[in-house]
Amino acid sequence: MTTANFEALEKEACETIGHASDLKELESLRVRYLGKKGEVTLLLKQVGSLSQENRSVFGQNVNKLKSSVESALDNQKRKLSAVSSEKSIIDATLPGYHAPQGRLHPITQTIREISDLFLRLGFELVDGREIETEFCNFTALNIPLDHPSRDAFDTFYTENGALLRSQTSTVQVRIMKDRKPPLRIIAPGRVYRPDEVDASHSFMFHQIEGLMVDSDVTFSDLKGVLSVFLKKLFGPGIKTRFRPHYFPFTEPSVEIDVNWGKGWLEVLGAGVVNPKVFEQVGYNPKKVKGFAFGLGVERIAMLRYGIKDIRLFYENDIRFLGQFR
Ligand code: DAH
Repeated sequence: MTTANFEALEKEACETIGHASDLKELESLRVRYLGKKGEVTLLLKQVGSLSQENRSVFGQNVNKLKSSVESALDNQKRKLSAVSSEKSIIDATLPGYHAPQGRLHPITQTIREISDLFLRLGFELVDGREIETEFCNFTALNIPLDHPSRDAFDTFYTENGALLRSQTSTVQVRIMKDRKPPLRIIAPGRVYRPDEVDASHSFMFHQIEGLMVDSDVTFSDLKGVLSVFLKKLFGPGIKTRFRPHYFPFTEPSVEIDVNWGKGWLEVLGAGVVNPKVFEQVGYNPKKVKGFAFGLGVERIAMLRYGIKDIRLFYENDIRFLGQFR
């Protein structure tokens, strides 16, 4: 048999197999080609009786033929079984499967929404770190050594003197030490405080810090930017109140309350950057001015969605989480 004969046989066999219309027909084709007395089997048997020189080409041809036939049989078998299982499994009258769709955590949604508003006001999103130094969390922010929040009860310390940041204001320090003014940044992230967990406290929660520094930034800029922000977030009808307060890193400082008919609620801390902070980060307080603010993300999400218990955010209960868009 010549190589051309082999090729013709291979073509014919593969085509025939490809036309088999059910598994039974396919099995009889398998017997016809590969069974004990099958066409390919008989050719294989001839190999042993050939002379040395003919054997090698013939052997190669017959092996190639065999493996083509085998894979044609396999392919057709797969096709036919897929069709037959479709027939038996699909019942178009059954209700469809509901594929549950994931969504973002309400805290993530709130962070993204707030960040988006500030990005549109020209602020840049930056990252901080959760494990911090005393310098960034306290000293550079003009929080004195004997300030009560430096006490171990208000801050988690690590064994080697580092700490879990208790406020995102640390990012003000890092960014100013890193870069030259002007700056307009916001920094969302987690903060930690050893508070007893209850409906309004958690040992971990989220804040968003903001900082704007330039040669000529005033309290009016602070008021303008934060008023626009609160109107965008809570709606144009929201009333805001800037109430004097004390923070060591800003002077003057305010707390900002909002009111949409249910009394005043504090949502932001803010103020004009204290020149002492500029000194700590190597800025010249005579040449730069700035304002800063910080807000609690959970607080804002709870107000907007009417959530009464902060713990709901951390329990991973789909019945709760699934309600946010
Ligand atoms: N870090 C403050 C807090 O955790 C919030 C805050 C107040 C941030 C005033 C500021 C600010 O940047 O100017 O309570």
